[in-house]
Amino acid sequence: MEKVEKYIKYHGLLCPNVMCSEDSLKRFEGFNMRDDDVIAITYPKSGTVWMQEILSLILSGGDFTTVHTIPNWYRAPWLNSVPAALVLENKPSPRAMVCHMPYHLMPPSFFSSQAKVVIYLARNPKDVLVSSFYFHQMANFLDDPGTFDEFLEKFLAGEVFYGKWTDHVKSWRNNDLGDRILFVTYEEMIKDLRGVLKRFLDFLGREMTEESMDQVVSHCTFSQMKNNAMSNLSMVPRDVMDHEKSSFLRKGIVGDWKNHFSPDQEKKFNTAIKQEMEGINAEFPWDKE
Ligand code: A3P
Repeated sequence: MEKVEKYIKYHGLLCPNVMCSEDSLKRFEGFNMRDDDVIAITYPKSGTVWMQEILSLILSGGDFTTVHTIPNWYRAPWLNSVPAALVLENKPSPRAMVCHMPYHLMPPSFFSSQAKVVIYLARNPKDVLVSSFYFHQMANFLDDPGTFDEFLEKFLAGEVFYGKWTDHVKSWRNNDLGDRILFVTYEEMIKDLRGVLKRFLDFLGREMTEESMDQVVSHCTFSQMKNNAMSNLSMVPRDVMDHEKSSFLRKGIVGDWKNHFSPDQEKKFNTAIKQEMEGINAEFPWDKE
């Protein structure tokens, strides 16, 4: 594994070395997946912390204790991160976790286990880009994004953490996981969180009372999560994440890209993404825009 300034390169992918160490990546490779593990896969800035919150509550059966007492990076750790290496092994089942890795880089036990629950959350790449642009300004463990135009070029070239958005989405769409995987988009969650929660519950074979579902939806709204220190990453030291520059839970809306893209940038971005997504067997809410 090669160290490149703020990153550690894992099979060519840039992983921030604040979150990942050589040791945590080795542990990731040898990770012992259990059959009842639940993992949410996301490209960064697609709503990972949102999934951590929802999965924590689903797996606790609607018990709110942990979401008010344990930071999300311990509750539902990033699988290849340092906190995961510290807590997952001794965590009782069922365990929730999140991961930004592409399909082909998942550890062998992911493929050999019966773990049948994978949720892939995707988001309009234009909104991902905008969210990532602000995140690069506040996260000192990432490169300075430069201007929006410069960052757009880097994003399209995949010179950002966890590589190209298109490679990531394609890798997970072209999987052979059958009914082990459920696809959801950020946009669907914004539109109808309760409906999506019901889909998660059905997919995971879990039940929740109507009242608990209402409570989960209410707890997982943007404003509630923004005010929850266990979910908003405000406990991360300021030299790592500077919330004065931008909040981690920044806007939480669909379509903020319209406030940032020029017509030329939009055209260039659409053309590049369309070309790379050609032939992929999936329709996304943002394709119709
Ligand atoms: P914005 O920067 O557009 O606000 P990730 O966790 O993958 O890094 O994604 C972060 C993005 O998800 C941020 O987007 C954040 O605001 C948004 N997000 C997190 N929780 C949310 C929620 N409860 N409702 C809506 N958006 C949420």
